[in-house]
Amino acid sequence: MTDAAWTAFDAAAEQHGQARILDQFAADPDRLSRMTVEAAGLWLDLSKQSWTREAFEVCLELARASGVEPARARLFGGEAVNDTEGRAVLHPALRAAVGSDFRALGEPVSAEVDQVRRAMAQYATAVREGHETGATGKPFKAIVHVGIGGSDLGPRLIWDALRPLDPAIDIRFVANIDPRDMAEALTGLEPETTLVIVVSKTFTTQETLANAELAMAWLAAALPEDGRDKHFIGVTASPERAQAFGCGRTFAFRDWVGGRYSLWSAVSLSCVVGLGPEVFGRLLDGARAMDEHFQSAPLAANAPVLMAMAQVWNVDGMKRRARTVAPYAHGLRRLPAFLQQLEMESNGKRVRRDGSPATRGTCPVVFGEPGTNGQHAFFQQIHQGPEVVPAEFVVVRRTDGEMVEAPLWANALAQGQALMQGKTTEAARAELSGMGPAEADRLAAHKTFTGNRPSTTILLDALTPEAVGALIALYEHKTCVEGVIWDINSFDQWGVELGKVLAKAILKDVEAGEPSKGLDPSTAFLLGRLLA
Ligand code: F6P
Repeated sequence: MTDAAWTAFDAAAEQHGQARILDQFAADPDRLSRMTVEAAGLWLDLSKQSWTREAFEVCLELARASGVEPARARLFGGEAVNDTEGRAVLHPALRAAVGSDFRALGEPVSAEVDQVRRAMAQYATAVREGHETGATGKPFKAIVHVGIGGSDLGPRLIWDALRPLDPAIDIRFVANIDPRDMAEALTGLEPETTLVIVVSKTFTTQETLANAELAMAWLAAALPEDGRDKHFIGVTASPERAQAFGCGRTFAFRDWVGGRYSLWSAVSLSCVVGLGPEVFGRLLDGARAMDEHFQSAPLAANAPVLMAMAQVWNVDGMKRRARTVAPYAHGLRRLPAFLQQLEMESNGKRVRRDGSPATRGTCPVVFGEPGTNGQHAFFQQIHQGPEVVPAEFVVVRRTDGEMVEAPLWANALAQGQALMQGKTTEAARAELSGMGPAEADRLAAHKTFTGNRPSTTILLDALTPEAVGALIALYEHKTCVEGVIWDINSFDQWGVELGKVLAKAILKDVEAGEPSKGLDPSTAFLLGRLLA
């Protein structure tokens, strides 16, 4: 069944791959309604993608034949969909309504989720109201959030998106093992009023433990031993390791929460404190609304499915190996970094679930910058480079109340328009009328845009917690659907392991003061230079 759907997909790519997007609006008068969808308060416009109506239908059939619907049920049903680690993948349970009944591998989990959520809310309120104080009795004014990858990018994204301009409790994020990162974060902070929250699912991550030690030493140098542990909180799926490390209190989550899908858990404790439990609850509500949409909307009107199929069409149909994401809102400036982990760590794989080589695309390179900044950097390549790079624009109607958004809207819409319609050589030539013909021809070539470059636009009404939650959940489900289509495990990340092991070995060489015998010549040369 899947083979037949892929055969039809390939045939459609062959037949419709050259079609001009702009022409499709006339060819299919329903194109706009067919390819725009409302989901959990977000509006998506996929009509500027390069699929024809037939290609769109073929993509939907591929989704159906690949088993997106049963795969979705297995995920929400808590089955071991992470089958290289034998784990359920249940981030939707973290944002479910209180009193739900999610089960991971058959074990009920919702009561524990509710209990951790309550504990977080109580703790956050106590810190915000000054009842929970530091060792010297002073209220906390700042949080240093220590974590990396999924233990950093999600909380950082939601803090940037939702933080007040002048927060009562400042949050500083530290991820990099470069001590400069911690030094910058601690500058200007007082140990007496600073809370350090160390976030690590495994509590074994080298960067996080090194930074946690720096933060601990900084606290120890200034605070009495008695009560110092109130400044040092752990968030982890391994509470015993966090306690052994010296965390005064720990907030737990389970191994069925993948790192890059974990921002809905205690991983965001810093944000729950900084934003307040009510705001965090609204973020969860938005994500839950997207979960409900994903589970109930038909495939043809299902936002995560359509986003995923547009990507599959670009990657496998049109052989486009990169995608750029441009959020036109300063608050969403960390979205590209978040998506790099979400999509590339989930789907940057070369083998299928059964271990055989993946014969289809899998994850393209994902990169981006906020609009309009990116326009003045790499967008030249997006408009005129030899590779077609599909673009995604996230546009917010109202950010801070005033109509200052209009220039953002204008720029975002203009980019999608320019990519689609381009500019012919004749039009460029017509603008150069006062010039000699040879020079006009030469310049017209430079000023020509081929156009026919695809984009998707996502509209948010406002940068509310609900909208941000829905947007992130949209991308999560889109990523999972792509994994189903490509038949890969989107929930493991073996590709990051080898580098970790080799870094440990090199660190031993550094301690020994010389490159070890078995090192390849290039690495030995570089290490030798560093040690000199
Ligand atoms: O190295 C990659 C990774 O394992 C990510 O998957 C994860 O989000 C990150 O490291 C941090 O891991 P931890 O939360 O266990 O410190």
